[in-house]
Amino acid sequence: MKTDTTTIDIQKASKSKIENVDFNNLVFGQVFTDHMMVCDYKNGEWQTPQIKPYGPLQLDPSAKVFHYGQAVFEGMKAFKDEKDQVWLFRPEKNFERINKSSERLAIPEFPKEYFFTGMEELLKLEKDWIKKGFGNSLYIRPFVIATEAGVSAAPSKEYKFMIICSPAQAYYSGEVRVQFSEKYSRAADGGVGFAKAAGNYAAQFYPTNLAKEEGFQQIVWTDASTHEYLEEAGTMNIFFRVGDKLITAPTNDRILNGVTRDSVIALAKEYNIELEVRRVTVKEIVEAAEAGELKEMFGSGTATVINPILGFGYKGEKYELPNMEDTYARFFKDKLTKIQYNQAEDKFGWRYQI
Ligand code: COI
Repeated sequence: MKTDTTTIDIQKASKSKIENVDFNNLVFGQVFTDHMMVCDYKNGEWQTPQIKPYGPLQLDPSAKVFHYGQAVFEGMKAFKDEKDQVWLFRPEKNFERINKSSERLAIPEFPKEYFFTGMEELLKLEKDWIKKGFGNSLYIRPFVIATEAGVSAAPSKEYKFMIICSPAQAYYSGEVRVQFSEKYSRAADGGVGFAKAAGNYAAQFYPTNLAKEEGFQQIVWTDASTHEYLEEAGTMNIFFRVGDKLITAPTNDRILNGVTRDSVIALAKEYNIELEVRRVTVKEIVEAAEAGELKEMFGSGTATVINPILGFGYKGEKYELPNMEDTYARFFKDKLTKIQYNQAEDKFGWRYQI
């Protein structure tokens, strides 16, 4: 779907910062482009979206986002092909998910036309920030925050929807090993685990720091009631390869319905890779590792794409996975990125041109 562009106020930055950026040494999420999109909600409706120079916000210290964490976000990427054309990957999914997250956090639905028109106009302005070549992308962060002043514990009557953009390369610069959680959980049934709610991520930082002290980059969360089932990691959904079978947990109240996860599942079906979407126990994965049958683990996510996991820890034991040439992780990353960078046929209709 393409939308008209009549509803956006655009104020361009007087000078670009791009000359000061070392695009060969980017740390994820540290450098931001020249502009941002802002759309305010007040008097019961979303106002005209604006694109303005990137810069700080002024908010009342009592704004509800600071006190009650009424905030949701998305992660998307734009890619540039060899002909300088810019593509998004399945943006409809992100649009649907931000509104699903918003609904759960009592935030008003954001209009589709504003989402797509704002994003397109912003990306046209920031085109030079998107570098060609596999691994280069522009990470796009749409988010909504509750801005109404006042600390009464009730949904805000005012919000800001914003989009900021950051040139990106790899999310993890080194090897990734994960710890299976024995005690902490990311989310519980009936909670907000399926939503990209800011608080889901804040709650992960402390247990993840403890895991980092033991040499793991991420935790694989287990279910809140029994800690027997493996669910997802903080920045990615998780896939296991036992023999030649690919296994991943189903999405539910607690697990984020990742766009990359969904794409891996579609590709696995397309290429006849045996796939089971079902609950995965810690026990079976530990046993498969001990029997040498656990061939691979990898994470999937917008920021991380497909990230191989080299080993895991559980109850003080450390398990290393085999070092293989022909991995599913490599296979899926290759298939996905070729579609994203317009280097392969887009059978599923996933690309969206800017
Ligand atoms: C993404 O992959 O876009 C995410 O939102 C994960 C984030 C924690 C970097």
